[in-house]
Amino acid sequence: MSIRVHKPYVIAESEDGSHKFVWLGIDEADAEKGILTNQYLIVDNGKGLLIDPGGYFVFERVYKAVTEFVDPENVVAVFYSHQDPDVVGSLNLVAEFFPGATVYISALWTRFLPHLGVLEGIKIVEIPDRGLEIYLGHSKLVAIPAHFLHSPGNFTLYDPKVKVLFSGDIGAAVFPKGKWYLFVENFEEHAKFMEPFHKRYLASSKALHAWLKKIEQLDIEVIAPQHGAIFAGKRLVEKFLAWLRNLGPIGVDNIDAITG
Ligand SMILES: [Fe+2]
Ligand SMILES: [Fe+2]
Repeated sequence: MSIRVHKPYVIAESEDGSHKFVWLGIDEADAEKGILTNQYLIVDNGKGLLIDPGGYFVFERVYKAVTEFVDPENVVAVFYSHQDPDVVGSLNLVAEFFPGATVYISALWTRFLPHLGVLEGIKIVEIPDRGLEIYLGHSKLVAIPAHFLHSPGNFTLYDPKVKVLFSGDIGAAVFPKGKWYLFVENFEEHAKFMEPFHKRYLASSKALHAWLKKIEQLDIEVIAPQHGAIFAGKRLVEKFLAWLRNLGPIGVDNIDAITG
């Protein structure tokens, strides 16, 4: 029987070990309940920032994985790329189990969050449309606007210390039943699992090229999406960015074909 539960993995780490970018593991069986999601944790000098903790049913796994790297009271921040259920669905549990965490989310979505339930005591910082610098331990992270890719209030998160870019739904892949891997090896094969998502969920080429323009100024070693597999190393990062550049019409550009 193949192993379907995968343990957390440190994607990138500073030389002195004080800063880590961690993928928080996965249970492939979750694909039977909903789309598979990647969660990540950035740790700097004992303080943690949790990225897109995900829906209700993954929270127990995510919580256990986080506590392997940082004490729950030292999770000081939670970054939400956007408002989808697979991103914010566990917000109530996040608030209960990480009581010291400040939530960062687009200013577009804060008024919608109370619909998830009682949010007493949660500190929320609205990320303005132009983005935000977020401080964690002795490090600085950058929330980079990625609006309309797909959410109208959407951010990616760059970690300059280890040169990792969390790309949210950009780079998402939906694997066929029974298939899963953590790192992209065969790009051409992997692109088949990304293309339908990018053509239908991402809103416009104009938005995509605006994001690419910002990203191209950064030194990136790893791109880590919320779904699918990670692009590790400059060669794969560049292949992925080139693929996005040449993706052609997406979202509203295809509106007539989509609506028939
Ligand atoms: Fe989404
Ligand atoms: Fe998503």
